[in-house]
Amino acid sequence: MLFYKIGSDNKICHPLLLLLAYQENLFITEVYIMNKIQSFDDYLSQYEQSKANLVKYWESIASNLEWFKKWDSAHSGDFTTTSVTWFDGAETNLSYNCLDRHLETRGEKTALIYVHNDPKKAPEHISYIQLHQRVSQFANMLKNHGVEKGDRVCFYMGMTPELMIGVLACARIGAVHSVVFGGFSAKALADRINDCEAKVLITNDWGLRGDKLIPLKNVADEALESCPSISSVIVQKSAPENVMMKDGRDYWFETENQKASTDCPAETQQSEDPLFILYTSGSTGKPKGLLHTTGGYMTYAYHTFRNVFQVEENDVYWCTADIGWITGHTYITYGPLLNGATTVMFEGVPTWPDAGRFWQIVDQLKVTHFYTAPTAIRALEAKGLDYVTPYSLESLKVLGSVGEPINEEAWEWYHKNIGKEKCPIVDTWWQTETGGIMISPLAGITETKPCYATYPLPGIFPVLMDAEGKEIVQPKAEGNLCIKHPWPGIARTIYADHNRYKETYFSTYPGYYFTGDGAKREESGMIRITGRVDDVINVSGHRIGTAEVEDAINTHEHVVESAVIGYNHPIKGQGIFAFIIPTSMDSIQENFHQELNTVVTKMIGSIAKPEKIKVVSGLPKTRSGKIMRRILRKVAEGDLANLGDTSTLLNPEIVEELIKD
Ligand code: WT7
Repeated sequence: MLFYKIGSDNKICHPLLLLLAYQENLFITEVYIMNKIQSFDDYLSQYEQSKANLVKYWESIASNLEWFKKWDSAHSGDFTTTSVTWFDGAETNLSYNCLDRHLETRGEKTALIYVHNDPKKAPEHISYIQLHQRVSQFANMLKNHGVEKGDRVCFYMGMTPELMIGVLACARIGAVHSVVFGGFSAKALADRINDCEAKVLITNDWGLRGDKLIPLKNVADEALESCPSISSVIVQKSAPENVMMKDGRDYWFETENQKASTDCPAETQQSEDPLFILYTSGSTGKPKGLLHTTGGYMTYAYHTFRNVFQVEENDVYWCTADIGWITGHTYITYGPLLNGATTVMFEGVPTWPDAGRFWQIVDQLKVTHFYTAPTAIRALEAKGLDYVTPYSLESLKVLGSVGEPINEEAWEWYHKNIGKEKCPIVDTWWQTETGGIMISPLAGITETKPCYATYPLPGIFPVLMDAEGKEIVQPKAEGNLCIKHPWPGIARTIYADHNRYKETYFSTYPGYYFTGDGAKREESGMIRITGRVDDVINVSGHRIGTAEVEDAINTHEHVVESAVIGYNHPIKGQGIFAFIIPTSMDSIQENFHQELNTVVTKMIGSIAKPEKIKVVSGLPKTRSGKIMRRILRKVAEGDLANLGDTSTLLNPEIVEELIKD
């Protein structure tokens, strides 16, 4: 159906009214607006339309949003040139689309429900009008601290509303946010600040997580000893305990914010202006700062949230992720707000004060959509149903899963005990790089199957590659997962290192985006993600590069070399197993494992601690000197009968030692 947009207030008008509009001399642009997918037939039809004319399809999605100026060119570039643009020449503002656009129609509606760590504190309801005001004030505060368009602002915070508000404030003035998860170490924070030369750091005095106080400011102080680019540190108070404040560098948020006006019109952004940097781990080297840009990311976050979750006007949507990860960017902040939804943000942890916390919040807030990670499901399942049965969970309509493959048992438990067998589970596959969900059921529309991410969203063309690097054409297949054409949400580059971007994602299969994941495809086209095929480990849904952990372990004075492997872990999905060659067997003391944990925690963060270690005199190497990880993986999983061919090793005798207890 053809619709027309009149002026800039985004009202849609039937063609018959056009004549009238024309006579009244209104500015008219022709656009084709793509509706929310309503049925599986509708999905198939939109998929076909996207296949027939990909660019037109994305234009029709983008036309639902507010653009101050329309694009000159809807799309350019491909995975051969690796420089991709969407809606180039267009002008917009993401915070405007998340906030201002809703003020007239939903101003009093709750935009954000904030749930404190402390269950005794009442949840805070923040309306679209209030959020708009708080974002504007925060934005002016940033300006008062010298932040200009294009400057990088780093966030190292607990899950307080100011984290979301601050991120939106950056988007409002065109500053580039870089959120660093509050569990990372001083060294990891410093590396991330220095890589993008952030100007301002926003942090908390303390992070509140269950009964623990996380010393965010102390860690930040340590990081800042080696961060010359930071000129101001804004500290939001969360706990009565004191922290050190450095004169001329550190400022209390409460005081600074009060000085700022609440009037801050949204800056005009170019579609391809940088929006945020988010660091993630890969198989080699230091973490990569994926750069997402404005117009394409906005369109993709809007489109995927609306179609996958099928949230209705009075629903309450809760994603349990931390804003320090991409899930919290796209599906706590941008996606829900772009759609005018009510989004929940939770400061605490699922197991405190007890393992019923999630379900208590679901009942208290009448949550309709609940989106979490398999690791949390497994951890709560292990605690037993006594923590679930006190709650009715009757408000729930849709459940989601993200971050790692969900095993069948966890899927069934979630479906039965949380969803009461009436809530569809959307198993959403995507990545930091993809910006938003790529392969997933659409809630209530796509038939689900345990462990299957099912079908790609319209506009997404996944393919499986064989060992020769060719696309597998027969439907039933298994191979490495690639994506064929650019979509608006794809990260445009690795910050300040475009060559690494090319090398990492586009060199294995020239012309395709390589995801790093393996997948199986059924005859019907249904897709099941089998997990990473590269040297990336997924621990509790957190992506960790084996090389990073090895580098950290190798800094220990008694370590010569190490090899880090992921092995199946009943709760975390994968655990970290480190094989270690020491300087001498005599140098290993009883507390060696503890010491390794300490260095890893210091270099990366406690999420990267090795669960198990094995001290060995050598590692299995190929003749070219590469570690044969396949063998280590089998050893780590105790699958000794299937070590495979070890005769080609440079040092086959080492196998004997590896399999010894
Ligand atoms: C990796 C991306 C996507 C946001 C959170 C993680 C794994 C993610 C699924 C899923 C199987 C999944 C993949 C992917 N993954 N979702 N539904 N089923 N695996 O983002 O930190 O960039 O990690 O997480 O291995 O490559 P990320």
